[in-house]
Amino acid sequence: MAKEITLLVCAYLLGSIPTGLLLAKASGVNIRETGSGNIGATNVYRTLGRKVGIMTLIGDCLKGLIPVLIAKQLGLPEVWIAATGLAAFLGHVYTVFLGFKGGKGVATALGVFLGVSPLSVLIALGVFILVLVRWRYVSLASITAAAAMPLVIAFLEPKKLLIAMSLAIAALVIYKHRENIQRLRSGTESKFKSS
Ligand code: G3P
Repeated sequence: MAKEITLLVCAYLLGSIPTGLLLAKASGVNIRETGSGNIGATNVYRTLGRKVGIMTLIGDCLKGLIPVLIAKQLGLPEVWIAATGLAAFLGHVYTVFLGFKGGKGVATALGVFLGVSPLSVLIALGVFILVLVRWRYVSLASITAAAAMPLVIAFLEPKKLLIAMSLAIAALVIYKHRENIQRLRSGTESKFKSS
């Protein structure tokens, strides 16, 4: 049990590292005071361009992927794999390093699901790309892909705990996008521009 609890704490702490905020800080920018104010890859991309945006995406994704892969490597049962993924995700969303005010969790969730079910990610990514290409809103694409994930998991990995984890993640991702949803409704959300 000590091993499992240690992994949960480490997953949470790894998830808590605010990749985007640190990378932006290295470029002299306070990412929480620019664009949407979010610490995620979309806002970093919007503010500092493709290279730093992609670095943030990869860093945030690895924070979800690495703990899940370690849990699998240790041969832990599904309940601990799901809990580890959730801990890393919660670390990003409610980071201890920023007074529990973190990001929206999309890239870290991507990493968690890559570790759990790469095929599900492929389908969710397809949904994300279709919505992004059609409407040009990253937030709308993120919300739609997150909402699709529990259905995809239920179909491809029909295990209760993984479905529960994906439902919890989807609900939190959507909740964290509540300001984006308001902006989408009022027509003031920024559209994605490739740089
Ligand atoms: O992953 C976050 C994205 O869906 C929205 O980011 O910066 O537009 O709020 P942002």
